[in-house]
Amino acid sequence: MLPFSQAAENNKGPLLEVLREYLTAPGTLLEIGSGTGQHAVWLAPRFPDVQWTPSEQPHYLDALLPRLASEPAANLRPAIGLSVEDDDAWPDGPFDYVLTVNTFHIMSRDQVMRCIDQACRRLATGGRFVVYGPFRYGGQPTTDSNRRFDESLRARDPAMGLRDQEWVTARFAEQGRALLGDHAMPANNRVLVFG
Ligand SMILES: C[S@@+](CC[C@H](N)C(=O)[O-])C[C@H]1O[C@@H](n2cnc3c(N)ncnc32)[C@H](O)[C@@H]1O
Repeated sequence: MLPFSQAAENNKGPLLEVLREYLTAPGTLLEIGSGTGQHAVWLAPRFPDVQWTPSEQPHYLDALLPRLASEPAANLRPAIGLSVEDDDAWPDGPFDYVLTVNTFHIMSRDQVMRCIDQACRRLATGGRFVVYGPFRYGGQPTTDSNRRFDESLRARDPAMGLRDQEWVTARFAEQGRALLGDHAMPANNRVLVFG
């Protein structure tokens, strides 16, 4: 039985609709924190002109690789081991697209900053960085369920927690990337697109 995420199963359809707006030209994509690989194997064939590189922290690669092997696609490249804080692990790029789903509340603030910094250095001019997940606005979770989720994350590990959309946007601005879109998703999630 392959590792499975119900959240990934639920959000892949809505995510596809937003990606269709932004992955409009052939190119290369780096996915950060691919998890079970459900997004990679389902989304990559829907963008056949985009060369899709999944990645995952080296110690979690064993959970990712079996699904990629079981559902190969012509444009799905071999997965790479990548922890965002490991400068030496980052691939050279450039990438036309970067995608990360439900990772910014799992990474520490410092790791999110490293992720944005390193990925933006490898993002082509005119490239797009797509971030899916729950965010706070004006310092507050948008719903009671997101507040409870935020509290549960911080109780599990004080370094985790929902990030402020404004703080994320400011970090991208430091790298010269503006907020192009902020899309509502089911279950109180958002898709933020920078470029
Ligand atoms: C909630 S899971 C989401 C996985 C997948 N993107 C999905 O939507 O099903 C969070 C992911 O963030 C990854 N992650 C956490 N910290 C990371 C780091 N420092 N560098 C790279 N990935 C990290 C985890 O390994 C995990 O795959």
